[in-house]
Amino acid sequence: MESTAGTGRAAPAPRASGHIMAGLGALVALLLVAGCERGGQAVPPAAAPRGFSALTPSPLPRVSLGVLGPELALAAAYRGAYEFSSDWFTSNLPVWQRALAPYAGRRGLRYLEVGVFEGRSVLWMLENLLTDPGARATVIDPFEGDLKDRFLANLRMSGQERKVTVIVGYSQIELRGQPLGSYDIAYIDGSHSADDVLEDAVLTFRLLKPGGLLIFDDYAWRPGSDRVEDWPGPGLDAFYTLYGRHFDVVHVGYQLILRRRSDTPR
Ligand SMILES: C[S@@+](CC[C@H](N)C(=O)[O-])C[C@H]1O[C@@H](n2cnc3c(N)ncnc32)[C@H](O)[C@@H]1O
Repeated sequence: MESTAGTGRAAPAPRASGHIMAGLGALVALLLVAGCERGGQAVPPAAAPRGFSALTPSPLPRVSLGVLGPELALAAAYRGAYEFSSDWFTSNLPVWQRALAPYAGRRGLRYLEVGVFEGRSVLWMLENLLTDPGARATVIDPFEGDLKDRFLANLRMSGQERKVTVIVGYSQIELRGQPLGSYDIAYIDGSHSADDVLEDAVLTFRLLKPGGLLIFDDYAWRPGSDRVEDWPGPGLDAFYTLYGRHFDVVHVGYQLILRRRSDTPR
């Protein structure tokens, strides 16, 4: 939905004398330098990673497990002959394989996914990580149109549907009914607006076990809109600014991956 906020008319520029302008310039320079100061180390403004508000430096440290890979053909990424259309997933595999290796096959592994579409990500998880008979996945999506049928057909083909709880609905509502401290891995790939992503992040934080991974898709995605509230990035910068002390940063790139620390209060 397009917002109608703002009239599009610019306010008239105030008149100012030369010394007032010089003072304002110095203040702006001071704020820029102060804003780039992190952990006692000054980062030159030109080198500071830009925040997705486009006004502030990113609060996230530069930690990377690698870059996006190529999109993979079905047979290169899956054992099942699933029917998929768009591929928003397989280019993440080089990073996912590194981040998730320690969890592969773990007994009773618990996975939560927001935003399922035709099931590319959860089916890859079922084939590669949720391999223990006691492993379980919970997935949430409103599944508009015939999406649910397409996903369920793929899920049946995997032969692992008994491991998956499918919730039809919006994550901002449905996450509230999930058990606290119960998931090892959560993947947030539903609504991409900054407010929804921030709400998903806040709601999912307490659903993770200590040491649990929280993966966000599209941290660096910029949609056609130039309004920051339409991008996931500002929501995640806000989340990390306020909740960062509860997490270790695993990866910052096209996606964002955080690990819940064991030593912070519930
Ligand atoms: C990019 S697709 C997910 C792709 C999937 N993870 C994959 O790897 O193929 C986004 C999905 O989020 C769902 N979605 C949108 N808003 C949502 C919300 N508020 N709660 C849960 N799911 C939502 C859409 O229905 C859509 O299926």
